[in-house]
Amino acid sequence: MRALIAGNWKMHGLAAFRSEVAALAAKMAASAPADCDVLICPPATLVAAFAKEFSGTAIQFGGQDCHADPSGAHTGDISAEMFADAGAGLVIVGHSERRADHNESDADVLSKTKAVLRAGLTPIICVGESEAERKAGKALDIVGGQLERSLPETSDDFVVAYEPVWAIGTGLTPTLADIAEMHAFIRSKTRSDVRILYGGSVKPGNAQDILAIDNVNGALVGGASLKAGDFYPIVMAAGGKQ
Ligand code: 13P
Repeated sequence: MRALIAGNWKMHGLAAFRSEVAALAAKMAASAPADCDVLICPPATLVAAFAKEFSGTAIQFGGQDCHADPSGAHTGDISAEMFADAGAGLVIVGHSERRADHNESDADVLSKTKAVLRAGLTPIICVGESEAERKAGKALDIVGGQLERSLPETSDDFVVAYEPVWAIGTGLTPTLADIAEMHAFIRSKTRSDVRILYGGSVKPGNAQDILAIDNVNGALVGGASLKAGDFYPIVMAAGGKQ
């Protein structure tokens, strides 16, 4: 299975950040793992320009969220079709920051997942438990419920990202054994060819250990995806998967 190393820039990035993408593209042109896809999900304002400028490189671009409808009277929203039109290949849905900031339910996430598929793109469906849920021993139950309610038909092409909410932007990560347990659990609920990414404080220093775990098929990286100097070593760490 090809690994997927995806960067989620969140609400960071102006046009000048193209220099980081250019630096990453140059490093990857010199050396990159053969069986690894690399994706950057910048703010929506940058997707079209980046997809155009870097179309000849090994870097793909994606959206961070989309509306469920293809078009309509929804001021400020962006549809999956618009991301496709802008040159995106994948769209993240159900990120915990969307669930928290915009009250998104699993049903909303499923609608958005279907919208991404309708537009001919690949959804990256995020799931993950809170700190209180992990401490209460409910992590598998919570993630199992999210999967049941937000995964599309089993025949569809999709990616799952396991992002424990308490590990996002905190520098904390679950133990390798806890990641292995959760990814094996998610695998038991999905097809064998669905890529399962780990996300939450992935850095150059821990990427190799995390990516070596069974059923970890890549990473969804926040803060460390903003600088080519941090993101490139994580891409290279995926080379150890083959
Ligand atoms: P950090 O890598 O900054 O912890 O963010 C993870 C994340 O939320 C990626 O979607």
